[in-house]
Formats: sequence, C-alpha cells, structure tokens
Amino acid sequence: MLCSPSLQQYIVSDPVSRDAALIDTVLDFEPTSGAISTHTADKILSFIDAHSLNVKYILETHAHADHLTAAQYFRHKLPGVPVGIGARISQVQNTFAPVYGLDSKPDVFNGVFDLLFKDDEEIKLGSLICRVLHLPGHTPDHIAYLIGDAVFVGDSIFQPDVGSARADFPGGDPKALYSSMQRLMNLPATFRLFVGHDYPVDRAELCVSTVAQQRASNKHAKVGVSQEEFVQLRAERDAILGAPRLLHPSLQTNILGGRFPRDENGKPSFKLPISTPISL
Ligand SMILES: [Fe+2]
Repeated sequence: MLCSPSLQQYIVSDPVSRDAALIDTVLDFEPTSGAISTHTADKILSFIDAHSLNVKYILETHAHADHLTAAQYFRHKLPGVPVGIGARISQVQNTFAPVYGLDSKPDVFNGVFDLLFKDDEEIKLGSLICRVLHLPGHTPDHIAYLIGDAVFVGDSIFQPDVGSARADFPGGDPKALYSSMQRLMNLPATFRLFVGHDYPVDRAELCVSTVAQQRASNKHAKVGVSQEEFVQLRAERDAILGAPRLLHPSLQTNILGGRFPRDENGKPSFKLPISTPISL
C-alpha cells in the first residue's frame, strides 16, 4: 500500500496477484493561471510500472470539493480500467448541474462513471475482497472501501485530533455524518482508517489511525459524545468555514468523473458563479 498524506491518494494492491486499485487520485491544478498538470499522477503511474501492478479499479470516495480528480487521466492511461463511485453521485450531479449550466445538456452525466456502488457491495481485488460502506453526511454519495483490516474512509472521519469533516455542503447532513462515524467506530478495534485529508496543528501529517484510537479520542465524536452534541458542534464550526479554495473547478470536474467542462466553443473552461449584493 502506498500512502501519501499530503496528496490524500492511495494505491492498494494484492501481494499475491499484484492486482491494484487507485483511490482518490488528484490532478495538479494552479487556479490563478488555470494550469492543470499530471506531475503527481505520473509519479503514481511510475510506481505502478515499477511494481508491475495490474490496476483493476480507479475508485473515488466522493465528489471532492477541494481538488480535481485524476480518474479520467488514469482511465486514459490505463485503458479498460473502470472508474467507480457511490451510487448517490447522481444526487450531487443533479444538485450542481444547474449551478454550472450543465443541465441544458441532455445526458451530460450518462456514462460518466463506469461503476456506481451501493452499500455493502463487494468487488474483488485479486485474492482480496473490497467492500463498499455507504457513509453519507459530508456528502450524500460518500463511500469508504474496506479491504482486509484497512478502510479508506475519504472524508467520513479525520484523524482523532482533527475530528470530522464539514457537513454543510448541499446534501450534507451532520446527523448522517455522526451515524457514519459511529459505523466506522463500530468496526473491530484494530482496523485501520486511512483518511482522505489531514489538517494537523502541531504534528506532521498522518494517513492512518485505528478504530480504537478513534473511539478513545476523536475530537468530535469519541465514545460518549451524543448525536445532539455532535450536530451542535458541527453547526458552530461549519458556520465559520469559508468555501474551499478550489470549490468550483473541483465540483465541475468531479461530477463529470474527471472530465473538464467546455465552453460554447469546445474549449476546456470553468464557470465561476458570483454572489453580490449589487446589480450592474
Ligand atoms: Fe471532501
């Protein structure tokens, strides 16, 4: 398993067959210039090559709002490898299509993802079984991938001293997030939770914690914290959070499975909705 905390990307492989899955891959994006590059993704391709891995799946935990998925780039580089995400991605797509003018294009989301996973669905990764856990709350489509004793949790829980992700995006639900975190914390104590982000204050970035550590010390939802207390805490925190820096480019790319939206001339282009009290 390769884990890169600052990039929140994972390669999981079966040591027997070398079958592998990529989870939450990222494109490099410089929002001021609009430059998108594949430097990081190409390092993953080199790793795959160096270790003779057979990539079987390109997996997303959810429609990210803070980075651009590299799923389509890998699909292009690894022909025939399907891209999978939670089945409720359709809710996210339908929510944001009118925001970005995608609703005027019929069938714009048809075939965008190859696999739409439901809760408890299983896929094989060589000799390993990968089970899907639907964990809504941060986003409605959010899923985790349980492989052996490792769970790739995306943003459904953070490191114990960070706590939890925001639940105020459209379709977000703090009560559901609490239930999703409880579901993770009800897994066996030694299971390892690999997070999608880490935001440390006074330590180096980390990828992983155990269920036991989460139960004992999750800052927002350790054992003993009620749903009401969690919802109150999340509401207070979410009220002061700003929009993610890459919100609009991320959503426009990620609801298309990693393809870029295009303007009326067919050029790749992002829309930036503005909010203003003045009318000019
Ligand atoms: Fe997220």
